[in-house]
Amino acid sequence: MAELAVNVDHVATLREARGAKYPDPVGAAMAAETAGADAIVVHLREDRRHVQERDVRILRQVVKTRLILEMAATSEMLGIALDIKPDTVTLVPEKREELTTEGGLDLITHQASIREAVATLKNAGIDVCIFIDPDLDQIKVAHKIDADAIEIHTGAFCDAENGFDRDREFSRIVDAAKIGTKLKLRVNAGHGIDYHSISAFKGLDEISEYSIGHSIVSQAVITGFDVAVRDMLRLIKAL
Ligand code: PXP
Repeated sequence: MAELAVNVDHVATLREARGAKYPDPVGAAMAAETAGADAIVVHLREDRRHVQERDVRILRQVVKTRLILEMAATSEMLGIALDIKPDTVTLVPEKREELTTEGGLDLITHQASIREAVATLKNAGIDVCIFIDPDLDQIKVAHKIDADAIEIHTGAFCDAENGFDRDREFSRIVDAAKIGTKLKLRVNAGHGIDYHSISAFKGLDEISEYSIGHSIVSQAVITGFDVAVRDMLRLIKAL
């Protein structure tokens, strides 16, 4: 059965919008765990636009499930990860001007530096996942550089504007999930998944974890965090 990793970045977005002390992503993480979330995710961005280092440090102390830190493979972030020791680091590309993570890491271009980052993190006992597009060549490199897991970028599928594009993007995800599993990588999926698009993944048993943030935090504004997480969990259990 696939697990749900709840990303609480956008609780911090709301806090930072006013420079206030609330809402606290730590409180949201606690509520998500109580509702049954299998892991908590935060992305500590170079520009600190939402999650702050303080959040990650407190989460490390209080998260009872698993703490997943999304980060760019920079020396600053590697230093923070080695100090805080999340259960998993998901390496993502990062551009200051982007609204959100816009694509997977290009492992073909950045193979040498990412290989080094993977080794550094794994030597410290941290599980390493790499966020990549559903591209077979990228997955082969993830395997070659010894990642523990890949997270398939589902954004192009979730954002597709017509059925043709949707089908094409979904078949790329299916192929990627199958080849990743064949290469003995753990296969996760995330980006842009909401309460409707999640049902498309029914029967794709190769996916071991869904990483979902924006839709859950948005729903939580209406229904509260507990209901928002339980509703997504129910949909994932039905896949
Ligand atoms: N996975 C990765 C690697 C991400 O960068 C993000 C966005 O922070 C997510 C999953 C979650 O995406 P969303 O907020 O669209 O659910």
